Amino acid sequence: MPLQLDFGALVEDQRVHRRIYTDAEVFEAEMERIFERTWVFVGHESEVAASGDYKTVSIGTQPAIMTRDEDGGIHVLMNRCMHRGATICQEQRGNSSFFRCWYHGWTYTNRGELVGVPYPGGYGRGFERRKFSLKRAKVGVYRGLVFASLNPEVPEITEHLARARYYIDLFMDLSPEGEVDARSGTHKYGYDGNWKFQMENGVDGYHPNFVHQSFFEIQGKKLGRKVMKLFTEASSYQSKDLGNGHSILDMAPQRKSHRPVNNILRGSTSDASTKIYIERLVRRYGEERTSEILGASNVNLAVFPNLLIIGIQFRNVIPINVNRTDVYLTPTTLKGVPDEINTARLRAHEAFYGSAGGGAPDDVEMFNRCTTGLRVKGAEWLELSRGIEREHTADDGSIAAHISDELPQRAFYRQWRRMMCEKFAEASESRPQSVAALD
Ligand code: FES
Ligand SMILES: [Fe+2]
Repeated sequence: MPLQLDFGALVEDQRVHRRIYTDAEVFEAEMERIFERTWVFVGHESEVAASGDYKTVSIGTQPAIMTRDEDGGIHVLMNRCMHRGATICQEQRGNSSFFRCWYHGWTYTNRGELVGVPYPGGYGRGFERRKFSLKRAKVGVYRGLVFASLNPEVPEITEHLARARYYIDLFMDLSPEGEVDARSGTHKYGYDGNWKFQMENGVDGYHPNFVHQSFFEIQGKKLGRKVMKLFTEASSYQSKDLGNGHSILDMAPQRKSHRPVNNILRGSTSDASTKIYIERLVRRYGEERTSEILGASNVNLAVFPNLLIIGIQFRNVIPINVNRTDVYLTPTTLKGVPDEINTARLRAHEAFYGSAGGGAPDDVEMFNRCTTGLRVKGAEWLELSRGIEREHTADDGSIAAHISDELPQRAFYRQWRRMMCEKFAEASESRPQSVAALD
């Protein structure tokens, strides 16, 4: 039997070992210790708005189906026939009250109960259909975000989200009705590299001026101002550790007036629409809160382990194997605003994040380069120490640092180590041992 890796030793306070990205044993353990134990983002409730709507999702590598039953309840059913294991739903989304397995025809309701078994005479009297309901995950919904957990003991979703809730609230409150819609389509891409590259990158304020230099230069010319200065040393932006592995690139210092509305609209809506929008926000939330909400219109929020909220989008990071990741990117529209506002949001989103956009493909190229570079042996560690000496406690009690610091990545890996290593509490008291012996 091969010795099990000491996962705790692969992640130190300021650096991580390359094997967390390259080792299949680490990946398998992540699926069990993280994705089977915590809340995993699966979608937004507007994606299953009507009774019978469903969408296939993943909890780590396990296939599942998010459904809306006839009473309005949301379920996450494991996509595995209780007869002999076939997936019972192959579509990405659709509407149906029942799922019929194509293999031998067993049929389930969208709550997961087995209601039909072909040729039942072949089964003895002791056969009880109720014992063959689909496996179900626990469901937690926060402001329309749907999370699933395979751990019956998982803490409440609100507890898990910790300080990330404040920023999720701001994001949802951009709508004068307090709700967003995630039905403008989903853009999917994948890359041959580890899932954590994408999670790190979504809250990496150090890279934009380099990876996205060409996009920023074009934007700067269009807007007549320097976009790149947002990420320089002179920036007043912060990064924050929000607890439980969540983090944000916080634009709070920008929250001074209604002007930041330009961040989402890029100056592309008429004054009339912008005025109506702001009036509706003020009517619902008041002046002060409206400024706070609009100031947050340019967020990069990471919710551990697999959700990023960036700009107007939810980004669902789906691990396939140690060296393959899918990413589903779903832009949102705001309920209760003039159409022009939503159109402007979507066009601005596409310019950077679309498949022909100016930004997101460049990030994927970096994940590919890291994957290739990490094949080099002898250089075993990745450095995440940037800004550790300027970490401080912010007004809201969170740990904060400069926007270009690697605080979000350190926050992610603190939680990673906690979850991967049961004995973390004891281990953290003494310095983690070297993993040189493992190489
Ligand atoms: S595997 Fe589903 S009915 Fe047989
Ligand atoms: Fe990027």
